[in-house]
Parts: sequence; C-alpha cells; structure tokens
Amino acid sequence: DSAESINTDIITLSRFILESQRYDAKNATGEFSMLLNSLQFAFKFISQTIRRAELVNLMGLAGASVNATGDQQKKLDVLGDEIFINAMRASGNVKVLVSEEQEELMVFRHNPATYAVCCDPIDGSSNLDAGVSVGTIVSLFKLTPGSQGNSKDVLRRGDDMVAACYAMYGASTHLMLTTGKGVNGFTLDTNLGEFILTYPDLKLPLQHPIYSVNEGNSVYWEDMIQQFFHNLKVPQDAPNGKPYSSRYIGSMVADVHRTLLYGGLFSYPCDKKSPKGKLRLLYEAFPMAFLVEQAGGKAVNDKGERILDLTPENIHDKSSIWLGSSQDIDRFLKHIGK
Ligand code: AHG
Ligand code: MN
Ligand code: MN
Ligand code: MN
Repeated sequence: DSAESINTDIITLSRFILESQRYDAKNATGEFSMLLNSLQFAFKFISQTIRRAELVNLMGLAGASVNATGDQQKKLDVLGDEIFINAMRASGNVKVLVSEEQEELMVFRHNPATYAVCCDPIDGSSNLDAGVSVGTIVSLFKLTPGSQGNSKDVLRRGDDMVAACYAMYGASTHLMLTTGKGVNGFTLDTNLGEFILTYPDLKLPLQHPIYSVNEGNSVYWEDMIQQFFHNLKVPQDAPNGKPYSSRYIGSMVADVHRTLLYGGLFSYPCDKKSPKGKLRLLYEAFPMAFLVEQAGGKAVNDKGERILDLTPENIHDKSSIWLGSSQDIDRFLKHIGK
C-alpha cells in the first residue's frame, strides 16, 4: 500500500452504531451498542472456533442427540450455542433467549433487561464437515413494557423486530445488519479484531436470473410450484433471452448472502415431507426477510403472504419462504395469482 491508499479513517461496527445512535437520539440509550458488542464478540468467538474445528477435532456429530426441530446436533451446533448463550447472559440486557438448539425458551433474570433474542447459532451445519460457508442468524425484539420474561416476548409479528443480523463464516467473516434503516455490511479484520464497514447501505438488484432451491424436493412440491421453476428453465424473453441459472449451497446464510449481493430468488417451499416448510420463523425466516426487505427486496411464503406479517404460535414454528429481488418475487406472486 502506498501512503495515500491506506484508509486511516475506517468505520468499525462499534463506531457505526455509536454514530447512528447519536442521530437517533430519541431512543439511543446505548443499550443497543452494549448488546451489539456482546453479539459481535460471539460472532468473532464462533468464527475463530469454526476455523480451528478440524485442528481440534470438533467436526462431526455431538453424539446421537437431536434438537427440538429434529435436526441431528453437530459438535459445533452445541458449541456455537454455548458461546452464544454465555455472551447473551453476560451482556446483562437480554431477558429472553430462543435458540434452535434449545427446546425451551431461556430466561435470564437480569433487570432492567431490554431485549429478547432469537438465534440460529450455526446455520448450515450439515455442510460444516465439507468446509462450506456456515453462519449465525439473529433476530432482536425489544421487550414490551410489563414483560414477564416469557414466550409473549417473542411470539410476535415479524414487523415487531427492532434489528436482525447474520454472520457468515466464509473466506472472510461477514456481518450483515439492519436496525430498520437499511442494511449495512461489515467484514472482520482479524488483525484488528474489528468488523469494518464494507457494504454501506446495501441494496440488492431489482432482478437477476438466478434461482436457488433444493431441486431434490421437486417431486414433493405442489404442481403450481413445480411449474414455476420449470418456467425459469426455458429461455426467457428478457433480459438476455437465456434460462435462469441455478445456485444452491444448502446453507441459508450463504444462499441469502449471495442473493443480497447478486440478486435473484431463494426459496424453501413447503413439500409433502415438510408440510409447514423447513425453515424456522423466529431465527431464519424473520431475520432474513427483514434484511432482504431493508435491502429493497421482498420475502413471502407459498401463499404470497408477507413473512413479516406472520406471527408464530410456538418458538420453533416453521414457514415456507421465497425471498430476493423484488421483480423475481413479483414473478412468483403473479404466477400464484397474487
Ligand atoms: P441449520 O443448519 O441451522 O439447521 O439450517 C439448515 C437449513 C438452512 O441452512 C438451509 O437453507 C436448509 O436447511 C437446507 O435444507 P436442505 O438440506 O433440505 O436443502
Ligand atoms: Mn439445525
Ligand atoms: Mn438454520
Ligand atoms: Mn442451526
């Protein structure tokens, strides 16, 4: 680097949040900055642990245990969960915690706590042993006045979320965050131990010829959905007259990250094997829908209902999801007559 090319005024995540809270004086109590510090510590710790997993024999299954939603737990699922729970407990301002890896909702008797947190500690863990990118997904609700610290704090409409983020442990460790004022992306500088702003005010393209779905489920989809994907596979009249490309990684975080950066659509429809869908509302569909909408995209279910208009009845409720570029989602909505 020559002198003038070194940026000496880098925006770290902590500085970014402080600046945004300074302008958002009405509810800038500093609570969010404190929680964000605990969140980013957890992401750095999980990132470090995953990158050393093969060296310290952390691959593979954590015994025969199965979690609340029927997934076989990997050692790193359990470890990521422990790291996250400890960081949230230590933050002092989380009262309620939902995790994919915990059957029951967890309550920390902090007072005065401010937040309820829902988390997928390791998303894409079936890919872990193959070295494919995995991540951590988080949704945040602010406790309502008179909160008793129970499921009422999280069984709420998606639009009640005050923030959502994911960390993706890929070639670099990325963090995508929204607090309802757009999406900002950060990349971990491991030398500084800081997340640096790399995608300010990210917006996904209006349309892009990529579809992302597990075709292995196609015989179990309803006909309308089979037809929709078939229509993407024939040469399109616009824009370049070619069929859509298929890209499916199998880690939601990685598939959503690509969709945010390149555009196109990602979908996990209901099928005969998973009649309610596979992805969980509170810690997969809700946070990813919030991020995609804030980046100018759309997120709906098989019936064309907006994901953020939904309210879960139980903390591990699942939903079908279609998310991505607004014109690609509109094409699906038109196809189902919405
Ligand atoms: P998790 O690893 O947290 O259980 O999530 C796995 C999810 C999601 O990451 C991905 O989109 C989906 O499972 C892939 O499911 P299929 O393997 O059935 O395609
Ligand atoms: Mn799982
Ligand atoms: Mn997941
Ligand atoms: Mn998971």
